[in-house]
Amino acid sequence: MTAIFLKNFPEIVKRKIELVTQNMYNKARICLTGEMTMAEKIILTGDRPTGKLHVGHYVGSLKRRVELQNSGTFDKIFIMIADAQALTDNADNPAKVRDNIMEVALDYLSVGIDPAKSHIFIQSYVTELTELTFYYQNLVTVSRLQRNPTVKAEIQMRNFEASIPVGFFNYPISQAADITAFHATAVPVGEDQEPMLEQCREIVRKFNDVYGETLTEPEIILPSNQACMRLPGIDGKSKMSKSLGNCIYLSDEPEDIKKKIMSMFTDPTHLRREDPGHTENNPVFIYLDAFCRDEHFAEFLPEYSCLDELRAHYERGGLGDVKVKKFLNNVMQEELSPIRARRKEYEQRIGDVYDILKAGSEVAKEEAAKTLSEVKHAMKIDYFDTPEFLEEQVKKYSE
Ligand code: TRP
Repeated sequence: MTAIFLKNFPEIVKRKIELVTQNMYNKARICLTGEMTMAEKIILTGDRPTGKLHVGHYVGSLKRRVELQNSGTFDKIFIMIADAQALTDNADNPAKVRDNIMEVALDYLSVGIDPAKSHIFIQSYVTELTELTFYYQNLVTVSRLQRNPTVKAEIQMRNFEASIPVGFFNYPISQAADITAFHATAVPVGEDQEPMLEQCREIVRKFNDVYGETLTEPEIILPSNQACMRLPGIDGKSKMSKSLGNCIYLSDEPEDIKKKIMSMFTDPTHLRREDPGHTENNPVFIYLDAFCRDEHFAEFLPEYSCLDELRAHYERGGLGDVKVKKFLNNVMQEELSPIRARRKEYEQRIGDVYDILKAGSEVAKEEAAKTLSEVKHAMKIDYFDTPEFLEEQVKKYSE
């Protein structure tokens, strides 16, 4: 009866009815099986393995991830070493990507990512991600990708204007696959990733609108402090970057850190100690903002009780750069020393780190495969996974 009734509707209306029914079905399934409760909180985040991680990564995102991990409020946490994404602009240098897999894994473990709580995995192992990307591509226009401000800036930085690799241009879509494959609800990243998250949310909405409620819309989690958002390089340039040679790495030895801090760019108008100084756009003060807490004053610089007092003195004049830099050095050494120690421990157990990556990658692959099945089901391309396709065809040809 229903079949005859439906048959008389135009295709578009039929499709809409199907979608509504499917949404109801999915929601009911979620409620009944508890298989994916709406309240489940899931983190997915990651980094490209193109170099060792530096303190910009640390305050901009790593530290937050560890706090979130240890807060116990997340049901699942996935941290991805984005080697496939790294290849989108390093296609001619696979050795660089390969060499940095372990470096990034060691950096993760050394800052406190705990493999008992978080799955660390390698992107290229989860081949389901590329399949998702392929389908999501149909939901994004070229002009929308061209408007992505992060991609725009990166194209300029790499002088790609006349010859953008398609894979690179496409990476926001692949990033949406990374996030949605895990039904991530939260993505803790640096501020530069905001356009990627926006693009991902658009893809989720479009997908769910066209194929029925399937994917989960993620939320970005940014650092709470402005200084942590965009830590400048030690030369005062806008961003810490390997190619600019202005980074302090998590794996740097104490003497290197000290040398880098003591050579840091400060306020160029603060020539003599007595001169009034500027703290805004002064990397030394931005770093202090990101790293120091009131306890550090009691420990290393008891003449001041907090950063505001130190800042006010510098602005008034009468406070030398060397004193401030020495304080910053003490603060950063204290923060980075346990990280370095843990890194050295893991460096002695590379076999274990390898096993951690392998185990994490297996879990991630399983999870992504589940989502891929849901996606293919929603898109009606799951011909061999259920008897439905055959049943439909038999019926169609027997009518
Ligand atoms: N684009 C990120 C970076 O530049 C890495 C990354 C790839 C990522 N996929 C992601 C981050 C998904 C968060 C979510 O380091």
